[in-house]
Order: sequence, then structure tokens, then C-alpha cells
Amino acid sequence: MAAVPRIFVPSVRNNMTKILKFPKGFLWGAATSAHQVEGGNKNEWWAWSYKKSKMDILGIKVQISKTGRAADHYNCYEEDFNLVKKLNQNAHRFSIEWSRIEPKEGQFNFKELKHYQNVIRALKERNIIPFVTLHHFTCPIWFYRKGNWLNKKSPDYFNRYVEFFIKNIKEEVDFYITINEPINYASWYLPLQGAYQGNKWPNLLDILRAIKNLIKAHQKAYKTLHQYGPKNIQVGIAKNNIFFDGRPKILVSLADWYWNRMFLDKIKNEQDFIGLNYYFHSRIKPGFKNPKNWINQNENKIVSDLGWEIYPEGIYHVLKDLKKYQKPIYITENGLADEKDKLRENFIKDHLYWIHKAIGEEIDIRGYFHWSLMDNYEWEKGFWPRFGLIEIDYKTLERKIRPSAEVYAKICQENAVFM
Ligand code: FCB
Repeated sequence: MAAVPRIFVPSVRNNMTKILKFPKGFLWGAATSAHQVEGGNKNEWWAWSYKKSKMDILGIKVQISKTGRAADHYNCYEEDFNLVKKLNQNAHRFSIEWSRIEPKEGQFNFKELKHYQNVIRALKERNIIPFVTLHHFTCPIWFYRKGNWLNKKSPDYFNRYVEFFIKNIKEEVDFYITINEPINYASWYLPLQGAYQGNKWPNLLDILRAIKNLIKAHQKAYKTLHQYGPKNIQVGIAKNNIFFDGRPKILVSLADWYWNRMFLDKIKNEQDFIGLNYYFHSRIKPGFKNPKNWINQNENKIVSDLGWEIYPEGIYHVLKDLKKYQKPIYITENGLADEKDKLRENFIKDHLYWIHKAIGEEIDIRGYFHWSLMDNYEWEKGFWPRFGLIEIDYKTLERKIRPSAEVYAKICQENAVFM
């Protein structure tokens, strides 16, 4: 491997004057999702946050906290997009809150649709290309009550919402992501939902059933979006892929197949691009003493505030594996919780180093969205992890640009990384 700052070694960096140019037209942006930033959503997460119980799942403490007004992005989106512009980003990924559009089954809310129309227009007015996600971990309460993604009609319910949206939204959008991280969602969040409700831990069959329905939902939505959407529409999913290594190889391959490939293989004829969310390097290390450490993500010395190992090189391996699908790739998420903003600058540069290397090896990568534009609600962990390029003061709602965001702004402006 090339002599590069695989992890953060400032002295190495200072001796390097490398400029890595990115392809013309590369998209630079950041991502958010509705429930994490908007505030005021009434979906199944909102409903759980009113349950008092706490849970301890495999040693992970879970307490769903209330989102309240979150970063109030629902009301502050114009101000936030001014910051996006100021930071030289030319694209932005965000999500539509299904529970706002279809709060009761089959009853659609045109006022909320208009809201998202205004959001899209606000981006376009600023020459920022919208990437719209239709499902990012949340659903309306009625859908949840019907059994969520275990209901065999769930792909049809989802498709009805997608069809309403694409037929009625008056602003054209070229890039749609149907579902965010379906495997992560089915394997972690759906079981969590069951467990949190005091139900029993769902069995593997339930998880596989949910995955099957998510595949169907994507396939149907893909067709619907192409049928009613603009001529140039590009539809994909955002897939959280992990760089697996370790031993034995058979387990590594199994993990790789289940987590990274199974879903993509099934939808290979129904995707125009692949969205990649990259966060993890997992070493498989079976041992009978502590089964929960079979997948160990934390051997590296440098970790984020969440204890997640920082391993930029992994994105390169994951990208190489995606090459076989022969589709354009957008990095739809990559980021870290780093309240003090000590690691973020190098985190971004080092990941971009490996992305650039993959581009040099003829992998068609067309954009990078940092997670996240601003601090937000990190699901079962609440508000404490700080993923934002922009810091949010949750008391005053003041926005403050973090120093690393200025560095990223320069990268976006120059279409190049200065290592
Ligand atoms: C991803 C999710 C995103 C955010 C980041 C940290 O798995 O898609 O909403 O929570 O992790």
C-alpha cells in the first residue's frame, strides 16, 4: 500500500504537498435526514420516546429520547441552505418524512408536500443539486401498527406514498434514493423497535422477511419513480457497506455477502447508481468467551466520540468491491461524531485520499456527501453525538460553522484535496 496517512499522522501530512484533483462535475455536499434534524415529527420514533422503559441490548444501553424541535431545520432550512452555499457545497442530501406526507393511511397532506416543494426549490435557487431520500429509518404510526416491514403488503404501502409524491411534487429532482441502509435497518433498528416495545427479540426469519419486503419496496418504487418522474431521473439506494476482514475467511465471506452484497445483487437491474454509506471496518474474530466481540470494530487507536474505529482505507476496499456492479457511485454518507472537531479535518482528507485512489483505478465515483451537515438526533443514542460540520446549540438554535467545515469548503471550491 502507498505511504499515505492511513490514520492521522500530522507530521507525515506536513511533509506532503500532494494535490488530489477530482473529476470535473464531482458533487460535493453533506447529508441529513428528516427525523434527525427537522423537529416536530410524529412517527414511530416519536411514539417510542414517550415510553418510559430503558433497555439494555447486548450491553448497549438504549433509551429513546425525545426529538422535540431537534435542530428546527423544518423552519430554518433557508438559513441552513445559505450556509451550505457559503460552504461551497454544490449538492445536498436530505429525506422526506413519510409520516408528514401520509399521516393517516391513504390520506395525503398537500401542505406538507408543499413544504418539501419549497425545500427543493430553495436548494435549486442556490444551485445546489438535491438528492432526495424517501425512507430514512422512520415510518408513519399507522404503518408501524400494521406490522411495519413484516407486513407483506408493506411494499405496496410504501409504493403508494412514493407514487403520490412523485406524481404531485412540482419541483423536478433528478436523484432519488428510495431507502436508506436497508440491511442495517432490518438487522438492527427493526429488532430494536420490537425489543423496545417489550416484544420478544425477532428471530432471523423476521429479519429476512423484512429484507425481502424492503427489496420489493425498492423494486416497485424504482419503477414508479421512472414511470412518473422526470426524464433524467436516477434512482438508487443508500447502502451501508462495511469493510470486513479477519478470520476465518468463510465467516468473513458470509458477513460480506449478507451485509454488503445480498441486497445489491437482488436489485442490480433496478438501480441507476449506488449510494454508499461508509463508517465501519469490522474484524471478525470468533471466540466463545465473549460472543458479542465476534465482530470487533475497535482495534485501531483512533476512534470517534462514539468509539467507532476510524479506518479510511476501508472505503477503498468497499469501493473496489462495488466496481462489479458497473454503476456510478455516490458516497451518500461518511462522517464521525467529534464534538471537539479535532479529528474531522483529517478524517475527511484521509477518506478522500482513498476515494481519489479508487477513482484513479477506474471506479466511477461521482460525489461525496459528508454526514452530516449539522449536529442532529443520532437515533437510539440521542443528541449527544456531534456529527455536524455545523454545530447546533440546541438551546438557542444558533448555528456555528466548525473549523473542519471551512477546510471542507475549500475542498469543495477547488474540487481538490490538499494533503
Ligand atoms: C447512518 C445513518 C444516519 C446516521 C449515521 C451516523 O447509519 O444512515 O442516519 O445516523 O449512521
